[in-house]
Amino acid sequence: MGFRVHPRGRVSSTQILAREFLNRGAAMGTVVVACEQDHGRGRGNRVWVSPPGGLYASVLLPADPLLSPRVGIAVASALRAFGARAELKWPNDVLIEAKKVGGILIEAVGGTAIVGIGVNLVTSPVPGATCLARVAPSSPSPERLLERILEELPWDPPSRLLDRYTELSATIGCMVRVERGPADRGRSIVGKAQGVDRLGRLLVLDDKGILETVVSGDCTHLRHDESLEAAGDGVRRWTCGTGSGTERRER
Ligand code: BTN
Repeated sequence: MGFRVHPRGRVSSTQILAREFLNRGAAMGTVVVACEQDHGRGRGNRVWVSPPGGLYASVLLPADPLLSPRVGIAVASALRAFGARAELKWPNDVLIEAKKVGGILIEAVGGTAIVGIGVNLVTSPVPGATCLARVAPSSPSPERLLERILEELPWDPPSRLLDRYTELSATIGCMVRVERGPADRGRSIVGKAQGVDRLGRLLVLDDKGILETVVSGDCTHLRHDESLEAAGDGVRRWTCGTGSGTERRER
């Protein structure tokens, strides 16, 4: 697919501009990139803090159930090309050293997806996040990173795509807690992430041996502390990136 890039200065959100392009009949492959955003949007109506120096782009692409893995692979591969060990956290986060460096927002309008890509390059504007300049030998300009992401966008068939996604995933194989989104009746689950299916859903094996399929939600990676479990008080304890938790086990 060919891409046509429309650079902008300070905007409200590239998602809004890309939607205007779409409403005026813009073609697939249209890209809007801005230097900064006043009202950058993240998943779940969160704010995406967007100071100068970061990459803020929205791309019109054909809607596809595996679009999030596709774009995630492109972003992680591009960051790796600049020397950072980027990984993917289901559903849409890009991590370096277990900290968030970027995110992907997908908004569907009919058969078109408006794919928003945000990457922290020189500053990490949110506590607990990171930026490329902190970990890589040299940080590319936003334009150079965008160019590389578009070059890296994979058009592999689903099985090859999911293999590549699994290689880059920090989630698969990890104990996770998923706060499920409204599409999943909001119930939270804890278990081991087994993989992602051909619809982009996360498969989680819970401790009753039930394989749960998660359509949407927020995922936290957990690290099982064997020594604490061995304390034998019936309480399983987990430490994780954003805090810790306990869970009483039926004996
Ligand atoms: C997330 O992790 O919550 C997704 C963040 C997506 C941010 C990008 S920046 C470019 C595009 N424009 C926006 O307003 N949001 C996306």
